Amino acid sequence: MTITFHLNGEEVSLPDTEPTTTLLDWLREDRGLTGTKEGCNEGDCGACTVMVTDPDGARALNACILFLPQLQGKSVRTVEGAAGPDGTLHPVQQALIDHHGSQCGFCTPGFVMSMVTAHTNGATDHDTQLAGNLCRCTGYAPIIRAAEAAEATPAPQWITADRKFTFSEIPRGEVADRGAAPPSAPDTQTDTQTTTDTDKATHPSLALRPRSGDDLATAFVARPEATLIAGATDVGLWVTKTLRNLEDVIFLDGCTDLKEITVTDTEVRLGAMADMNRVRQALAPLHASFAEMIRRFASQQVRAAATIGGNIANGSPIGDTPPALIALGAQLHLRRGDSRRSLPLEAFFLDYGKQDRGAGEFVEAVSFPRQPDSLRVYKLSKRFDQDISAVLGAFNVTVTEGSVTAARIAFGGMAGIPKRAAHVETALVGQRWSEATVAAAQAEFHKDFSPMSDMRASAEYRLATAKNLLGRYFTDLNGAPQHVLEISQ
Ligand SMILES: Cc1cc2nc3c(=O)[nH]c(=O)nc-3n(C[C@H](O)[C@H](O)[C@H](O)COP(=O)(O)OP(=O)(O)OC[C@H]3O[C@@H](n4cnc5c(N)ncnc54)[C@H](O)[C@@H]3O)c2cc1C
Ligand code: FES
Ligand code: FES
Repeated sequence: MTITFHLNGEEVSLPDTEPTTTLLDWLREDRGLTGTKEGCNEGDCGACTVMVTDPDGARALNACILFLPQLQGKSVRTVEGAAGPDGTLHPVQQALIDHHGSQCGFCTPGFVMSMVTAHTNGATDHDTQLAGNLCRCTGYAPIIRAAEAAEATPAPQWITADRKFTFSEIPRGEVADRGAAPPSAPDTQTDTQTTTDTDKATHPSLALRPRSGDDLATAFVARPEATLIAGATDVGLWVTKTLRNLEDVIFLDGCTDLKEITVTDTEVRLGAMADMNRVRQALAPLHASFAEMIRRFASQQVRAAATIGGNIANGSPIGDTPPALIALGAQLHLRRGDSRRSLPLEAFFLDYGKQDRGAGEFVEAVSFPRQPDSLRVYKLSKRFDQDISAVLGAFNVTVTEGSVTAARIAFGGMAGIPKRAAHVETALVGQRWSEATVAAAQAEFHKDFSPMSDMRASAEYRLATAKNLLGRYFTDLNGAPQHVLEISQ
């Protein structure tokens, strides 16, 4: 597979790329660009942050869980390219010096690239922009002061030029070498790499990069055993942490039609490849609590890569979006070849690690009806930012003239799958919306859930907090002020 992209302003073309090579490994080991640091190698620390620009704009991404084919047709800027060709520092670099924003310096390249990206995008919510960058010695105050100080200076020309390179010099999704087409999918516009038997054990035997949902459908039917790679924020860790050898892989990021988000008078439809930052943006005016929860989904870098389709398809019992989507009455749209089907999202999760998805079938989109906003989503985790939920509760109760006329309540972290609280819902519907009704419904929780104890929380904690969250929802929906740290800073 030949990958072509821009690196710090210069075109790079890589023939014979091993498709699950991470950008971080390639930068450091093949290119000698060691400014990009390896800290955790799992998307947590931000030491490996780079800026990736494509026609959608500039994004900070973690190079440690970014595979080279995901860069096709894009511009990559590492810390070595933050300063101008004549050595002029980027405004955020100068500000970090002026405000003493670095001590040991290990985290600094990652901070610089997150700050360069935020600066390029005019983003000034620095706490959020930098939540995915860990610094163990300087302390965040000088770093935030530096980010604020740099705000007034315009983005330098060498940075804004990245977008022009992308548009004019590297046609999006175009590849230099198409290799051999997969046997049963002759018409798909894909990139392939065939390996010999000897290297099959360590390298994917076939890597495809379809450019539309149609191409993907054809390719996946032909290779149903292939691993789909969307944002790679889960799959990346299979490679870097569990050292898994992936066989056939299909990269989905070229399928631009699957990135579409449409909001009509009746429906919201999120394409499977919509990343979490875009989903957050789209949901903010419709369901503010959902959008606010997404601000606490991982970090800016992970959200810029992670897709809604990946968050559903991975089937995790602690994925943050499924409970909220279930509470909104979401339908999941699946496709296999030319046939499509839709099902209520809760029906997709059959058991721990088991979903209702056949061979060669993929998630195309998820949709939910437009509705008045009664949704509240509460995420409980040990840290405010960048932490997996211990419990996530999503509540959507309709109250008409003082009585509950409908209730959809779903939880993550309470069972082996994202699950509705059916008994709790039944206890609410048809009753007055009152503290007494809430108390009666709280007594039903043990019928819906037998949570487990793990390092994130004990079973008792999970059950107790789930009940309490219903109480919180009651006061929240009744307009009582909510000053709770996990939803506002
Ligand atoms: C540091 C870090 C923090 C995280 N924090 C959170 C968090 O706070 N909350 C949370 O919920 N998750 C979190 N995650 C997990 C992860 O980011 C999400 O699950 C993410 O949504 C996965 O999406 P992706 O596009 O990266 O999926 P990928 O890693 O590309 O794929 C995940 C799985 O889904 C499959 N898949 C992907 N797209 C499709 C499709 N369209 N159809 C069928 N199958 C598909 C893949 O084959 C794979 O099995 C975190 C991850 C990291 C690394
Ligand atoms: S090395 Fe820690 S996020 Fe990449
Ligand atoms: S300066 Fe040492 S970790 Fe941030």
